[in-house]
Amino acid sequence: MASVKTLAQSQDLKSLPSDYTHFKNQHKSVEASPEVGIPVINFALLTSSNPDHRAKAIHDLGKACEEWGFFMVINHGIPETLTNPLFETCDEFFDLPEEEKLQFEIKNPRFPVMVRSSVGPNPANEKVLFWRDYLRFFVHPEYYCPHKPEQLSGLVSEYAERTRGLARKLLRGISLSLGLEETYIEKAMEFDLTTQVFAANYYPPCPDPESAIGIPPHTDPGLLTFLLQNGVGGLEIQHEGKWFHLNAIPGSIFVNTGDHLEIVSNGKYKSVWHRAAVNNTKKRISLVVANGPSPDAIVEPAPDTVVEPSAPLLCDDAPAKYVPMNYMEYVEEQRSTKLGEKPILERIK
Ligand code: SIN
Ligand code: FE2
Repeated sequence: MASVKTLAQSQDLKSLPSDYTHFKNQHKSVEASPEVGIPVINFALLTSSNPDHRAKAIHDLGKACEEWGFFMVINHGIPETLTNPLFETCDEFFDLPEEEKLQFEIKNPRFPVMVRSSVGPNPANEKVLFWRDYLRFFVHPEYYCPHKPEQLSGLVSEYAERTRGLARKLLRGISLSLGLEETYIEKAMEFDLTTQVFAANYYPPCPDPESAIGIPPHTDPGLLTFLLQNGVGGLEIQHEGKWFHLNAIPGSIFVNTGDHLEIVSNGKYKSVWHRAAVNNTKKRISLVVANGPSPDAIVEPAPDTVVEPSAPLLCDDAPAKYVPMNYMEYVEEQRSTKLGEKPILERIK
């Protein structure tokens, strides 16, 4: 089966096939940048030995999670000497012949490797196709990576390790911002066994970007999702009923909060709705790392173990708003939810 990339390159593609136009006129968005209040977290301050700097960064982090469910991290310490070759190598992967790419698929029910294109039927709704090809696999606690291009596995493995470290430190700041013990989220989510997924998304230029969509609106399962892009925008987030198109500060990492941060914070921090828009001039590649609880963790709102008794997450006045649920079961439920159906996060309320 051909990829969206092949479809986009075909000589006779003058207009968008109708299976892709389901989202026609649905994506009005406004430009967003730090000037209009997109939160920016300076990781160097969050890890600073100066207590005032650290306290300010923790406060900003909590505010970003509560008000936006989204922030950009600067000074995160992951070098471009790692991320640039990672982009190049992922790009090379999408250049491999279709049959060769598909050989890397692993149909493991727990930790599958997916090499997909939205040219094929979409399990959520066969009539709706998305303008995206992707490679997606688990990097923790089990690691499976296609062995071609040759450098891919080494680069992904290093990037996964670096982002795990970043996620752990951000979760410490987030725990403190909720008035919990610093390592509360890490322990409750069994973060040593974090379920970490890597995805490379490839969005070719699209003849009718107003009608197509790369990824439809959704929230992510898990705790924190990191996203890097190849200098081409497309990620849009919902905030106070409006969709914002995001422009990255060069070198920053986009971070969005996931459903399980919403659950553990008993709804204080909201999992942000987001989507990927496409454009008609430039190919866009996004590299995503989703950091979740361990596959077997049972996630529930944090009980009243707060450090600051003035702000308990759970007490008689604020009962648990979500039913406890195993993480992998949650992910499977979400995967089998059809477009337009109530998301699992709503169903466990
Ligand atoms: C995602 O939501 O998984 C990816 C969005 C993007 O590529 O911008
Ligand atoms: Fe997402």
